[in-house]
This record gives sequence, structure tokens and C-alpha cells, in this order.
Amino acid sequence: MAANSPSTAATLALIADDMQEVDKVIASRLQSAVPLVGEVARYIISAGGKRLRPALLLLMSGALGYTGSQRFNLAAVVEFIHTATLLHDDVVDESTLRRGRPTANENFGNPASVLVGDFLYSRAFQMMVETSSLRVMEILADATNVIAEGEVQQLMNTHDASLSESGYLNVIRSKTAKLFEASARLAAVLAASPPEIEHACASYGQALGTAFQVIDDVLDYDGNAQEMGKNLGDDLREGKVTLPL
Ligand code: IPE
Ligand code: IPE
Ligand code: MG
Ligand code: MG
Repeated sequence: MAANSPSTAATLALIADDMQEVDKVIASRLQSAVPLVGEVARYIISAGGKRLRPALLLLMSGALGYTGSQRFNLAAVVEFIHTATLLHDDVVDESTLRRGRPTANENFGNPASVLVGDFLYSRAFQMMVETSSLRVMEILADATNVIAEGEVQQLMNTHDASLSESGYLNVIRSKTAKLFEASARLAAVLAASPPEIEHACASYGQALGTAFQVIDDVLDYDGNAQEMGKNLGDDLREGKVTLPL
């Protein structure tokens, strides 16, 4: 990836130590008795990724004064859910490059990618149950369900050149912004913040995630494959109607 801007680097430096803790949780929770599970999961996770959703959860936790260790577990959970969506998304989009490497589907085939995606989703659910917080489980179960709906809605919109801007925004709020929203909201829940703060965090996460996906869609036309670590032009090739089109 391209170097972060100075302000982004300074922001991420605030949580550099926390992110190491999250990476430890991620590594320890990838354990499986089935070797291919760990192989595929480590393949995509060790390729890096920006870890934006965990970063949002950690930064928001810090802003709200929450310092408990549940933030590391929940940051790993949102990254597992994100990684599961990527494994599935690359199969659906027939993408061949992710995080600067051949996609898992390219390397291990579609069945392994789909099934290890399922493993990551269900591992994330095991971890959220360990929190014993019904509110945490509700937020993550709802987010995961909405993400799946967004992906299906996008599939239904394929090749529909008359898709409206609001139709497009509905898709990206679901498939992408929902997990940013959940990440920010979870920080507020961990911090036992009052409802208006939780709502403000959730709105911020939704706005950030929506903007992020618009930019990703622009970069699919106008980015640099080497910096992005993924091939350009996938959206147009797949008939995915995005805002730049
Ligand atoms: C990729 O997300 C999927 C989109 C929502 C565009 P990221 O760009 O956050 O992926 P990684 O984790 O950094 O690879
Ligand atoms: C993001 O959509 C997929 C999810 C959020 C589930 P894209 O298809 O645009 O993501 P990339 O471009 O493949 O990373
Ligand atoms: Mg894709
Ligand atoms: Mg894209």
C-alpha cells in the first residue's frame, strides 16, 4: 500500500501497541484441527490489509476512555468478519488479486475460499458469545446479516445501468459501511456510553464506511493496482454499477 499521510500515520501510531495485541488474538484464534483452515486463513491474513475496522474500534475506545481487554477481542472479531467477506467477495467477483497476492480463490480454489470464509464467520460468532454481552452479539449479528443482504442486493443490481444513486448508496451502506458502523458502535457499548454517544459513534462509522467504499469504487477505475494490491476494472468487468460509472 501507499505510505500513509502524516496525519493518518500519527493517528495510527496512537494504537500501534493495541494493534499488536489484536494481531496476537487473531493469530491465536485461527487455530483449527483441520490444516487447510489455518493455511487459507493465514494466507489472506498474513498478507496484511489496512486493519481499518479494528483501528476504528480501538481509536473510538480510546476516545471514550475504555481501556479493558475486550477491545482486542472485538477488534479481532470485526477483522475476522471482514476477512470472511473478502474470501466470499473474491469468489463472487472472480477477483484474482488481493493484498498484492493472488486471491485465496485463485490459489486454493473457490470451495476452500467459501468454506474457510464460513469458518471465520463462525469463529467470530464463537468469540462474540464469549463476551456474554447480548448487546454485542446483537450488533454483530445484525451487521453480518445486513452485509450479506447488501451483497445479495448488489448481485440483483448487476448490469442495471439505470441503478439510481440512492440504490447504489443503499448497497454500500449495507455491504461496507455497516461493519464500520458496528466497529464504532461497539466501542461505545464497551465504554458503557449513553445512547446519544453510541448513536453519534454509529453515525460516524456509517459515514466513514460509506465514503471509504465510494473511494474504493473510484479507485477501481482510476487507482494504481500495485498500490491497491488488487486489479483495477473488476467492477465494470463484472457489471457492477458504481457511482463513478
Ligand atoms: C476491502 O476493504 C473491501 C472494501 C470494503 C472496499 P479494505 O480496503 O479495508 O481491505 P483490506 O483489509 O485493507 O485489504
Ligand atoms: C466490498 O466490495 C466487499 C464487501 C464489503 C463485502 P468490493 O467488491 O468493491 O471490494 P473489493 O474492491 O473487491 O475489495
Ligand atoms: Mg470485490
Ligand atoms: Mg472494489
